[in-house]
Formats: sequence, structure tokens, C-alpha cells
Amino acid sequence: ALSTEELLRRVEALKKEMNAIVLAHYYTLPEIQQAADIVGDSLALARAAEKTSADVIVFAGVYFMAETAKILNPGKMVLMPDPGAGCPLADSCPEDEFRAFREAHPDAIAITYVNSTAAIKKLSDIICTSSNAVHIVRQILPEQQIIFGPDRNLGAWVMKQTGRDMLLWQGFCYVHEAYSEVYMIQAKAMHPGAELIAHPECRQEVLRHASFVGSTSALLNYTASSSSQSFIVATEPGILYEMEKRSPGKTFIPAPKDPANPRSVCKQMKQNTLDKLYLCMVNRSPEITVDEQLREGALKSIKRMLEMSA
Ligand code: 13P
Ligand code: SF4
Repeated sequence: ALSTEELLRRVEALKKEMNAIVLAHYYTLPEIQQAADIVGDSLALARAAEKTSADVIVFAGVYFMAETAKILNPGKMVLMPDPGAGCPLADSCPEDEFRAFREAHPDAIAITYVNSTAAIKKLSDIICTSSNAVHIVRQILPEQQIIFGPDRNLGAWVMKQTGRDMLLWQGFCYVHEAYSEVYMIQAKAMHPGAELIAHPECRQEVLRHASFVGSTSALLNYTASSSSQSFIVATEPGILYEMEKRSPGKTFIPAPKDPANPRSVCKQMKQNTLDKLYLCMVNRSPEITVDEQLREGALKSIKRMLEMSA
């Protein structure tokens, strides 16, 4: 097997040869983040995919992220190390059921979290991410009814921030849903002086105890600029790699798992290994493709997000 250093060197050479850009999410493995040209949250990665002049986009994240990159760049080749890395939250919202949900509320507009399939995006009016959801909802007229899905926790948090009532789809992320209130209270008691920070995919009873709530990029910026020296981090622990890199000397404690529900790692993000990244570039496969009608339908709601969050 090739060493990590050798694989990184070869990926670097392939990027030049192919005019490729490697985009990675903060939850991927450290060596993947090292190989990436841009590491970011969902919004930053979608923007990078929209702006790049590269011919090939290699996306180390989960399927909906690479699919969004392809929707924005039909003429570019989008590769993914392992297209089997789906987001279970996105996959928890079937097209038929979502259509029926919309039909039951014909006057409502649908604002949909980017963690969704292209088919759901096509059925939606505006896409949002955790970093622009509040900003987008605030631009909707107060009398307008809103359907929000698929993440009920992000939806509830946006409702609290904006004072708006929204009809929520009852999906959740298994990683963030696994954090529970009692362990957060315990962790704060065990680490007095450490600030609890959390991603809005956590449940409301967890978010209540956090001093800062935001997307992965917002959490990172917060830890880098805050005067606090230690943080209990209630989001996928892959982000600790970049937090420690940006704030050497500060202490980052992964939020404790509930022993009865110990799933706080996103298995799908970790399916992006460095060998698979290297191989997908060598083979120019697996390539992500999106049916043209589906792409056009989904593009409308993604474009609205990019315009509204400018
Ligand atoms: P961010 O947009 O905050 O990076 O979130 C992506 C995600 O999948 C969170 O679980
Ligand atoms: Fe999906 Fe949760 Fe993994 Fe994010 S952390 S990609 S929402 S399963």
C-alpha cells in the first residue's frame, strides 16, 4: 500500500495534470482535509463549486454535496471517492411523501435544507444551509406560510431565532440527534470554563445549553475569535482537526456521547478515504451525473438560495 505522504503527493500531481480542484467537508478524515484545496461548510463548498475555473471537481463529502456541485456545473466532471456515501438525513425524505406534504399545504412555500436529494430540491422553492437558513427565512413575508424540511432540529432552531411558525418535516441527523441534554450538563460541570458550542442539527434541549450555535464554518470562526480557551464541541468530531489547526493552544473537547446512543461520528463522511480519493482521480470515476430535467428543477431553488444569501 502507498503511504499517506505518497498518496498526497500523487493527488497533488493529478490535480495539476487534470486541472482538478478537491473540495472537502470539515467532517472528512484529516488526510482528506490535507489533500483538499478548499475545506468548508455546505454553503462555502457550493459557492466554491459555482465559482471554480477547474475542469474537474473532486468532491469529498456526502452524495448531496457532490450532486449540488454537478447541478451548478453541468459541463464539468464531478468525481466522488465513494458515491455510496449518502447522507441518511437527506435520504429520510422520500419524494412521494414530500410531494404529499406540499399538496396538503398548497399555500405554503417550501424552504429546504441542502441536505436533501435533487428530487426534493426540485419540489422546493428555496434551498438553505445551516449558515443562511435564518437569513433566508427572515426575507419571507410574515403572512407567508413556510414548509421547512427535512431537518426538524434545524427547523425548530430557525423558528426560535426568527419567531416564525413553520411546518416541519420530521427528519433528523443521527449524528447530532445522539447528543443528549443530561450529558451536556455533565460535561459542562466537568469542564467549568469551557464553552459549549453546537451545530443547529442538535436537539433543542441540547442547544439551550450552548453559548454559540452555528454551521461548521461559523463554529470554527467562533472558536478562533473567542477569548475562551476551551470548548465542548457538539458537532461531528472531524471538525476538531481544523479547529486545532486554526487555534493551536486552545482545548477542544468532543461533546460526550450518550452511552445508550453512541453514534456521534458520521460514518458516511469517513467513507472518503485517501486511497479512494486518489483512485477516483486516476480512473476519472466514479463520476456524478444528474438527469437534465431533474438538474434544471433543482437548480432553480439552489440559485434562489445563492441570490438570497449574497
Ligand atoms: P454545515 O453546512 O454546517 O457544514 O453542515 C453540513 C452537515 O452535514 C452537518 O451535519
Ligand atoms: Fe448527514 Fe448528519 Fe452526516 Fe451531516 S453529519 S452528512 S447531516 S448524516
